[in-house]
Order: sequence, then structure tokens, then C-alpha cells
Amino acid sequence: MAGTHATPADEAAREAVVDAALAALDLDAKTRLLAGQDLWTLPALPEIGLRSLVMSDGPIGVRGVRWTADDPSVALPSPTALAATWDPELARRAGVLLAQEARRKGVHVLLAPTINLHRSPLGGRHFEAYSEDPYLTGEIGTGYVRGVQSGGVGTTVKHFVANDAETDRFTVDNLVPERALRELYLAPFEAIVENAHPWGIMTAYNTVNGTTMTEHHHLVNEVLRGEWGFDGFNVSDWTAARSTTGALTGGLDVAMPGPVTVYGEALAAAVRAGEATEAQVDEAVRRVLRLAARVGILEGADPVVPEPPAPVDGAALAREIARRSFVLVRNETRGERPALPLEPGATVALVGAAARDARILGGGSATVFPARVVSPLDGLTAALPEGSLTYAVGADPNEELAVADQGFVLRAVCRDADATVLGTGSAPNGQIQWTGSDLPDGVTPEALRTVELTGTFTPRETGTHTFGIKGLGAFTLSVDGTTHFDAVQAADKDDPFGAFFSAPVPRAQPDLTAGTPVEVCLAHVVTLPDDVPFTAVGFSLCHQEPRRDPDELIAEAVEAARAAETAVVVVATTERVESEGFDRVDLRLPGRQDDLVRAVAAANPRTVVVVNSGSPVELPWREETAAVLLTWFPGQEGGAALADVLTGAHEPGGRLPTTWGPLADAPVTRVTPADGELPYGEGVFIGYRAWDRAGTTPTYPFGHGLGYTDWTYESIEVTGTTTATVRLRNTGTRPGREVVQLYLAPTTPDADRPARRLAGFATVEAAPGETAETTVELPRRAFETWDEATNSWTYAKGSYEVAAGRSIADRRVSTTIEA
Ligand code: BGC
Repeated sequence: MAGTHATPADEAAREAVVDAALAALDLDAKTRLLAGQDLWTLPALPEIGLRSLVMSDGPIGVRGVRWTADDPSVALPSPTALAATWDPELARRAGVLLAQEARRKGVHVLLAPTINLHRSPLGGRHFEAYSEDPYLTGEIGTGYVRGVQSGGVGTTVKHFVANDAETDRFTVDNLVPERALRELYLAPFEAIVENAHPWGIMTAYNTVNGTTMTEHHHLVNEVLRGEWGFDGFNVSDWTAARSTTGALTGGLDVAMPGPVTVYGEALAAAVRAGEATEAQVDEAVRRVLRLAARVGILEGADPVVPEPPAPVDGAALAREIARRSFVLVRNETRGERPALPLEPGATVALVGAAARDARILGGGSATVFPARVVSPLDGLTAALPEGSLTYAVGADPNEELAVADQGFVLRAVCRDADATVLGTGSAPNGQIQWTGSDLPDGVTPEALRTVELTGTFTPRETGTHTFGIKGLGAFTLSVDGTTHFDAVQAADKDDPFGAFFSAPVPRAQPDLTAGTPVEVCLAHVVTLPDDVPFTAVGFSLCHQEPRRDPDELIAEAVEAARAAETAVVVVATTERVESEGFDRVDLRLPGRQDDLVRAVAAANPRTVVVVNSGSPVELPWREETAAVLLTWFPGQEGGAALADVLTGAHEPGGRLPTTWGPLADAPVTRVTPADGELPYGEGVFIGYRAWDRAGTTPTYPFGHGLGYTDWTYESIEVTGTTTATVRLRNTGTRPGREVVQLYLAPTTPDADRPARRLAGFATVEAAPGETAETTVELPRRAFETWDEATNSWTYAKGSYEVAAGRSIADRRVSTTIEA
């Protein structure tokens, strides 16, 4: 894998430019540079030839500085999907594409990757993190960071640290034992700092062991910078910086967003009052200037990557990653052959709301707006012979309204207090999410009084449609000439991003006719909130199709399934289930989807279930089905990748990066603090480490996933304690790819240590009958534990089993070594 380390000579040359630039700045300019000037940028300082630094989310695409679909972005599969490829090289290629997207949009720093761990399956941002295992997380994250930075764009590895759930995320004090911090939560950060040299880190909202992370001198200055040698910049999560001197002393370099922050003028005043020193400010400024030099926006400094890498085809890569991430957890033989791949020419009944309206990404700051989306219905229509595919909704899990999209043609009209039009903006869907710089031409925050989202809606179904409003403040909603709502919508919880994460409220239920367009208008009186430190206009027009009788929908799907040779049911979570901003309450599929699967499976023995969720859901009906394929949030090309895999053009390449099981059996689930505290009382036992200890068999174990061929593991040899060589043979009938997983287990059980841990992995490819051999390095850290008494790593001598296999539960060959 190509590294992104610059040569020492290059670094020294850049440092000299940084030193000179720093020396030319006065205290006010320096403190200004440490504070966001708006939602996404730092101020330019022309006196030293510094351009404005632009940051953007991350991690599945680069949204850019506008929260709209005006400037579309390639949408890759969710981070859980990327981790399911178990392929750091593919993660690196994803990073190269993201750097290309960032450059296209004038972005210098990508606010990604998210490398918090899957501690509880209820974590709302589970889809946005990689795995329950710190080693796999570190390897995928290393590939990703190397890729992005090899394109000359910085990363902020986030959220440092223990931001593993969303409930009370601004205030929760996560009580994490030091050993669990070191062995689990800090471990991927440490690995990425060591192996990928990230140019940035983002400190989390939460508190760890009594100190808020934007002020955590011990973890930031002593561990991250001191022990690990991190030399990049430290940016706060958005609004996470809480105090001026606390943050500075705690090692925070940049407080985002602006213009109102704890830095800037407040920091200059603190220095003048003797509460902080200019030397401390200089250290922070030096790190920001170093970043600016690396990304090429500081005059006189050569960027680390002078020329962008060769162009990447984003859609093709999104499709490749998607099919490599799909995890086939079950594939039963029906008649002569397994359910998948589909028999050529077989008729297929496709079922499910998400098969038509694809759910390609998880909600919150990870949202991007792709130029196109290939749904499963689109993908299979293109791939299957004409006349062989039917479609039925079956069940609609969208029990709540979603942002107006299909059938709407809208634009935004901005008016001043006299109702004079100031300007108009495009509104490709019903969501307005503007910050200062996004306002349409001619519109200023001072003059803006109302925004009208106005246009037409052409229903695709006849019946009672529901329209609703997401957002806070005064709204007027009219549909087809009737005003249905004209009042103030208030906050339901105290959250500065309340307008963004609150649920849409139904406000109108007109009866409409399929194909007949009606006028729609949602007007909003703009008030700029005091508790959000930037200019923001955010609200959405939401909509829900007529609700059909759920039993009738299921009956229709059953009929279709009966008439076809194979039924493919796509089940999904919704935006109200998996998102930033809140945690999940259960792992059930919303709505009547479980009933739907059972009914279809009873009608057709060749029922294949496609699970479209970013994180684990319960699959109570799995034994009744022929096959189950987990497709995560598969990104914009998900439907095309699904067709590739179902037809057998490609095999599904994914393996579970996290254990899947029912909530009732999951060993660690709690995400709700009590009195502001969330104890990580399970210590180092999360994920498979905890399932192992509990002795409970999950639905599908860590590492599990089937391909379309068979493998026989022939041998394992370990040289010393460092190098394992595994030989295996493709004993099936197709060429295939296998993820060889190595697990390390102390042979004498020790209640204080996990029974077994992932210690390495590699991917091999072989044709039918061919053998493949792979050599995997076992990291020293796999033999170490953190000793809380001495505050250091201890090499745990003794005898170990090294096993190679297809999952943590399916180990095929093993040997014993002395460490
Ligand atoms: C999220 C970050 C994100 C930031 C900017 C925060 O709410 O936690 O992950 O980068 O917003 O959108």
C-alpha cells in the first residue's frame, strides 16, 4: 500500500515556511485562525499567503460546503459495508476517490473516518463506524486515511474517543476503564496514527472519565501526541468546544464551527488577561499552518501531493465496493442447486418498499446527495431478461414521513419583510439546509424574512397523501389551494441541532389522484436561533404515500411470489431507525416486514431476503428462507451491485465485521446514561469477546460470510510468533475470493482475557481446484494486554492457539505456539 508519509526533507522545508508564517502573525490573527469563520471554513490570512481552509463531511462521500443536492457527490457504501470487505486496499481506493471528490469541491480536509467501535448494536451511528473489533477497524481506517491523503487531502480521524452511542452525546460521561480504553477504544486511533500518519483528529462531544474530550489533556497531549507522536491538528466536533482556556490546555487547536466560538477574540482576551500563554496559542497555530502547508494552501510551502492522482471512476468503484461488501449469511440448496446465484432465465418476484425507493445511506452529517441512485428494481430490471421480473411493495416500513422527493418539482423563493422577492434557489427535494454562504444569490441573512418551498406534486398513487413539516418555527403549509397549517412548530427536546434531528410532524392529509399534479407550498418565517453559532436555515417538506391496508399489501406480494420461480424480498430500516442524533430502541425491522417475509417464504420455497440496513437487525424468519444477503447501506450503485451478485456475475465478497444476534442475547447493549454517566462496566468484553464469554451463540458470528465456491483449508504454519502461512484450496466449481482470518487464543483460559481475538487476515483468490497460500504477519500487540498497575503494555508470555478459518466460529486449521 502506498504511504502518505512525506520525506523528512520535505517536512523540514514545510516546517521552515510554517515557522516564518507563524512569526509574522500577531495575537489577534493567530487566535482568529483557530476559530471557524462559518460552518465549514477557517479564515484566510492574506498577510502570510494563507488561503481559507475548507472542511467537509465524510465518510461515504464529500458533501462540500452546501447541504443541498445542487452539487452532487458520489455516495459510496456505508462504513459498515467498507469494513465488511475486510480489504484495506479497497478502503485505500475509496479514499483516493474521496480525495478526488474533495479536490473537485475545493475541500482540503475530509471529516472522516469514523472509527468508534460497535459497542452496542443500539448505537445510532453504528452504520457510520466499521466494526466491533479494534484491529479490523484500525486496518480499514489505515487504508482509508492513506487513500484520502495520497490525494493531497487531509483527514480527521473521529471521534476521539468513546463516542460509541448518541444518547445525550453532548454531555454523557463515559466511564471507561483504562485497560478497555487502551485495548479497544484507543487502539484503532493508535494504529492509524502509527500506520497512516493522519493530518487531523476530531475530538468528540462526550466526556471520558470526568473530562470532556475537547479538554482532555491526558488523552490528547500525553497519549495521542506524547506517546504516539501525532503531529496533526485537533479540531473539535461541531460545537463541542466548551471553554477557552480549558480547550487550549487540553490540546484543542481549532473550535468549529464559527463565527461564535470559545476561541477567536475570547482566546486573545484570555492571553491578555494572563489566563493562557501566547506560547500555547503558537503551538495550536503551528499545527494549523502545518496542515495548510500539507494541503497546499500556504504560500511558499510545497504540498505533500503536488499533482492529483489519476482519475477514478466513482460509479464503478461504488458498485465494486458494494458487491464486495454484501454478506451472504445463508444459502440453502433448493432442488439441485443453491438458492443463489439465481438460475439464468428464472422468473423473479421482487418485493419491498426499499426495492423501489432504495435506502442507500444513513442519516445525519454523513448524508451526501448523489446525482443518481440505482435501486434494486432499477438494477434487476436492467440485468434480467425482459418479462422475467415483477414488483410488489409488500410492506412499507416508512411509518413516518420522509423528505419530499418522488413526484415533487420544487424551488425556494426568498422574501424580505415586505414580501419582496430577494432571490430564488433550487430545491431538488423538500429539504432546505442553508448556512450563511449557501443562501441564494441576492439573499442576505439580515434581509431574509421568509423562505417558500413551492412547486408541484404529481402523485404516483391515488388516495390520502400525508404532508408534514420537519423543523422549528413558524410555517404555513398549503396543498392544492387549501391552507392546512399556519402556526408555530416547537422543539421537543433541548438540542442545538433539534431542527435537524427532530421528527417530521404530519400537518395535512388531502385526497389526491395519481397522475394529477397539485400546487404545494411550505412557507417558513426565518428566525436565526441564538444557541446555534452560525447562520442556518433548515426545514423540510415531508410526505408519505397513501397508506394501503397492510394485509392487502402482503397478500399482493404473496400472489406475485407464488407466480414466480424465485422471490426476492428487500427489507430495510428507515431514516428514523438509523441516524446520527439518537440511538435505536430495538433491532426489529420496522412495520410489517417480518410478517411479509414469513408470508412470502411460505408461498415460495426459493425466497431470497435482501437486508438493507447499516447495522444489525433481527432476522427471526431466517430458517424459513432459502437465502439471506446483507447489503448494508449500499451507496448509489447498490441496485446494480445487487444484480451483479444475485445473477452470479460476481460473488458476494463480504464477511461480518460485527456479530449479528438478537437484542435479547446481545451481551452489551446499554446506551442510556444514568445521572449523566454511562459505565463501560463490561471492560474489554464487547462484540465477539463478550459473546464468547457469555457462551451464547449469536445468529451469525463475527467474520461469517459465504461466497459461491467452497474452500478447504489444508495447513497452517507459524514461524516464531510473527508469521503465519495458511494454505487452502478452492474445492468448488467457480473461481472465488476468500478472506482468511487468523484468531489467537491463549491455550490456558484466563477469565480476565478474551478467549480469542482477531490477529490478522488476508484475502486470496483461486480458480476451481487451485491452491492459494497467504502469509500473514501477527502483530506484537495481539500478545499484549494493558496493565493498569504499571500503566504499560505487558507481553503475555505463554502458549497460544493460532487458528485460521472462515469466521471466529468456523476455524479450519490451527497450531500451537509458545510466545
Ligand atoms: C458530527 C461529526 C461531523 C460534524 C460536522 C457533528 O454533529 O458528530 O461527525 O463531522 O457534525 O457535520
